Amino acid sequence: MSIRLGGIIAGLAITLVLVLWSLAPGAYNFAFGPAPEKQPSYAFYEHGEGPANGFSFDGAFGKWDYAQLQRGYQVYKEVCSACHSLKFVAFRNLQDLGYTEAEVDAEAASWTVPGIDPATGETTTRPGQPTDYFPMPFPNAIAAAAANNNAIPPDLSLITKARHDGSNYVYSLLTGYGEADPAKAAKVGFETPDGLYFNKHFPNVNIAMAPPLAVDGQVTFADGTASTIPQMATDVAAFLTWTAEPSLVERKQTGWFVIGFLLFATVLAFLSYKQIWAGLKPKKG
Ligand code: HEC
Repeated sequence: MSIRLGGIIAGLAITLVLVLWSLAPGAYNFAFGPAPEKQPSYAFYEHGEGPANGFSFDGAFGKWDYAQLQRGYQVYKEVCSACHSLKFVAFRNLQDLGYTEAEVDAEAASWTVPGIDPATGETTTRPGQPTDYFPMPFPNAIAAAAANNNAIPPDLSLITKARHDGSNYVYSLLTGYGEADPAKAAKVGFETPDGLYFNKHFPNVNIAMAPPLAVDGQVTFADGTASTIPQMATDVAAFLTWTAEPSLVERKQTGWFVIGFLLFATVLAFLSYKQIWAGLKPKKG
């Protein structure tokens, strides 16, 4: 058999396999029924892009903005902590945000944590200490669900890691509330159920969390920054990025060091290669 004929047969065989392969989804649907129809909420969902100017820690040279992290902590404390725990973060960790030891002691003491009465052994509450972790806002998951239209507010310690593009997502979620476009809603038969809130950046666009940042100036920042909704959302998203990965900036800096070291090692390897082969290669010409 000539090479040419062989080539044609092989080409046809591959084409046949590709055609059958492309028919496979059709065959699958024929056997198992069509794919489920898309929910009408898909008509409204918009992927959030995050704050207009990005975050200070974005990119390979990113750095924390400590003033921003402190503002974000303030937003968490004054707004989010009513419903969301931060159970993997201890008060002593706040020292990373640029607070002094005395300030951390005072911050810890401003929270109430569960304790035990040393005289009777009964459970009680006491002011927090730096070694304590952030307290849970609800005694248990049932109480949390009962207070929130049957939805349990998730722990926020790792939320920016638990969601795709988490820092931008948290910002977008907090700024994504509003009304569904009525014309579009009528067309696809969409309604936000009672007790839920329309949010175009929440995957199914109906979220059980009432808009937590509802008015400009809701928090009075200690450093005097104007607390617009986007500002509070950016700051708390930055703070939650820190809680999820306190070593983010160190990680990026270590990366540069490693690249530098590898470049240096490459130069050394090249020079030693030259050295070893210098006497062994035959001279040209
Ligand atoms: C009144 C209670 C309440 C407050 C205050 C609150 N939340 Fe929530 N939050 C909820 C509930 C309930 C859910 C679960 C919503 C759901 O699953 O529909 C939720 C969910 C979330 C989620 C997860 C969304 C997802 O993708 O699953 C994030 C992130 C979040 N909240 C951030 C915040 C931040 C940041 C603040 C403070 C600015 C805050 N929340 C304040 C009740 C609250």
